[in-house]
Amino acid sequence: MPMSQTHDQATSTNIQTEQRTLAVQCRGVIKEFGAGQARIRVLRGIDLDIYAGETTFLVGPSGCGKTTLISVIAGLLRPNEGTVSLYGEMTSQMRGGALVHFRAINLGFVFQQFNLLPALNAAENAAVPLVVQGMSLSKAVRKASELLERLEMGKHKNKYPNQLSGGQQQRIAIARALVHNPRLVICDEPTASLDAQTGHAVMEMLQELAGAPDRAVIVVTHDSRIYSFADRIATMSDGQITSVKTKQESQLTSDVNH
Ligand SMILES: Nc1ncnc2c1ncn2[C@@H]1O[C@H](COP(=O)(O)OP(=O)(O)OP(=O)(O)O)[C@@H](O)[C@H]1O
Ligand SMILES: [Mg+2]
Repeated sequence: MPMSQTHDQATSTNIQTEQRTLAVQCRGVIKEFGAGQARIRVLRGIDLDIYAGETTFLVGPSGCGKTTLISVIAGLLRPNEGTVSLYGEMTSQMRGGALVHFRAINLGFVFQQFNLLPALNAAENAAVPLVVQGMSLSKAVRKASELLERLEMGKHKNKYPNQLSGGQQQRIAIARALVHNPRLVICDEPTASLDAQTGHAVMEMLQELAGAPDRAVIVVTHDSRIYSFADRIATMSDGQITSVKTKQESQLTSDVNH
């Protein structure tokens, strides 16, 4: 959707002149957990735009709500208030099967705890999104294996998650998020368990994907080794977005070094 139709603030201040595809639009997103006295408000009115063709980093202290926010963006959690649109479709209003279908086609998600299926081997785990879309298991496993090769996981593709290290499991989770070439890839700490070289390779793959004008990548991270891969950095604090800056703007104010 052209930005000029959706982003009043940017249009009125004339910051952006070109038209870019809005991959994610959050408006007034509130998320609470618990009930009664124990109720806590974890997202406290999030407004956020994320553009296709870019890798956006989401940074902020532990517990500020990053995982909660990306779970709401991905439709894994429903907001109490506010709206989330992905590529112009208001996913926060979608129900049941429609949301599951939309997610299966459009989204790849790398969980902070990987969430691999213990009964499936590496290649089968990475193949799940293709099987969900109706591809035969053998073809899906073949495609997933190609991606695992690129992540230097080829020799481990028949192993089960409990036979693999944290970094190896993380690479399966990354392959699973990319295998169906989704429009939006959301990664929660995708390099936390990886050495510098492998982390770099993973970020190169994500950047390649986000380089397409209709694809977007969101990366939650504390890993300063990969900041150079960000196009834009959204900073969160205590359930709110406190700034969104391009990498260049962030370097000027040195936010990116914290
Ligand atoms: N299902 C839940 N029930 C109750 N509280 C929750 C739930 N999920 C998260 N929280 C709380 O919400 C707050 C934000 O959690 P979240 O996981 O989003 O933080 P985070 O920014 O991802 O932190 P980290 O960097 O440590 O991963 C925390 O105080 C957490 O305890
Ligand atoms: Mg988290």
